[in-house]
Amino acid sequence: MNVIKVHDKQFRPFIPYEKIEDEVKRMAWEINNDLEGKTPLFLSVLNGSFMFAADLLKNITLDSEISFVKLASYSGTESTQLVRQLIGFDEDIYGRTVVVVEDIIDSGLTMERVLEQLKDMGAHEIKVATLLFKPEAFSRDYEIHYKGFDIGNEFIIGYGLDYNRQGRNLKDIYIIEE
Ligand code: IMP
Ligand code: MG
Repeated sequence: MNVIKVHDKQFRPFIPYEKIEDEVKRMAWEINNDLEGKTPLFLSVLNGSFMFAADLLKNITLDSEISFVKLASYSGTESTQLVRQLIGFDEDIYGRTVVVVEDIIDSGLTMERVLEQLKDMGAHEIKVATLLFKPEAFSRDYEIHYKGFDIGNEFIIGYGLDYNRQGRNLKDIYIIEE
């Protein structure tokens, strides 16, 4: 793995795919054990979680379903703290065990919005799974049940994560060069 350039910025190797793969398998194992006998609905939050969701689900042995939601930070004038829904919840959530699948939880706002909506829709049980977590940035008050890597506040790309829409296709995770 080498230093790469995406748009105007340089990124260096951070988490190789082999490590990601091991962690994803470990998380799947935890979920398989925890939710044994249930039929969860996995809800992948697009775009960032598409690779993680794909790899995670390949290792899920439970009877299960997967669906997708798409959220984006609102781009209006009073932008920053708003999250807008682009593709909705078309599944019947009522009474279900739902596992929300995220690539990364940063401030935690996006996930908070998803959780509020799932509660409103009558989910019976909600679990949160994220591959990456930025503990120093997290400012919310909910439990994260399945967590891969704790990282610092640095910006990363790859394995679904983008910098201005590029870099999602990278198999490994890269970190920005200061
Ligand atoms: P939150 O709402 O602040 O938790 O942010 C969650 C979203 O911000 C993620 O789903 C990502 O799309 C994006 N994000 C946060 N940190 C990074 C990063 O380091 N690289 C790329 N995207 C990030
Ligand atoms: Mg995401």
